[in-house]
Amino acid sequence: MKKKAVWYVAGALILGLTLLAVSCGGGAPSSAVEEEESAVEEEETAAVEEEESAVEEEEAVVEEEEEAVVEEEEEETVTVTADPMAIPHALEGRDDCLMCHESGGLAVPDDHAGRTNETCTTCHKSAD
Ligand code: HEC
Ligand code: HEC
Repeated sequence: MKKKAVWYVAGALILGLTLLAVSCGGGAPSSAVEEEESAVEEEETAAVEEEESAVEEEEAVVEEEEEAVVEEEEEETVTVTADPMAIPHALEGRDDCLMCHESGGLAVPDDHAGRTNETCTTCHKSAD
């Protein structure tokens, strides 16, 4: 969006300068025309420089935004790997975790959907 705007401004500038050169330079003596041309060149250089610095600024903004996105993702990861609750009971005779934890008051949270009994103890360690 911003980049496009820069091009529009640059285009409008160049168009305006060309019209100026045509309307002022028409029929003028050749030395006047040369002066006019060098003035136009100078202005064009200034416009291009301005444009470049605007593009650099734009890039800096994009980089900052990317960094912000990365930080956000890192925060999400932290939430997911939050310390899983220790198992407050012995595991003997209780390897069918979901028999007791599939539903009811001790049901696993919604984010546990699809997790099988074999996976539970990779995250939850017995407190014993
Ligand atoms: C026979 C039923 C039963 C089985 C099988 C069982 N649990 Fe439990 N679990 C319980 C009960 C009852 C509690 C309540 C706390 C207590 O017993 O001290 C509990 C508590 C927990 C808690 C703590 C939850 C909280 O909110 O405090 C975790 C975590 C847990 N069990 C994980 C497991 C895992 C992992 C397995 C499989 C290896 C498993 N359980 C197998 C009955 C069971
Ligand atoms: C990828 C790691 C992971 C695996 C695998 C996993 N859990 Fe969890 N569990 C967690 C984390 C982290 C929490 C903390 C709460 C949350 O995620 O919402 C939790 C919470 C729980 C709780 C407590 C819910 C509460 O709020 O009282 C129980 C019970 C539980 N898990 C049982 C199980 C059982 C049973 C299995 C196997 C079917 C299992 N978990 C597999 C990571 C895991």
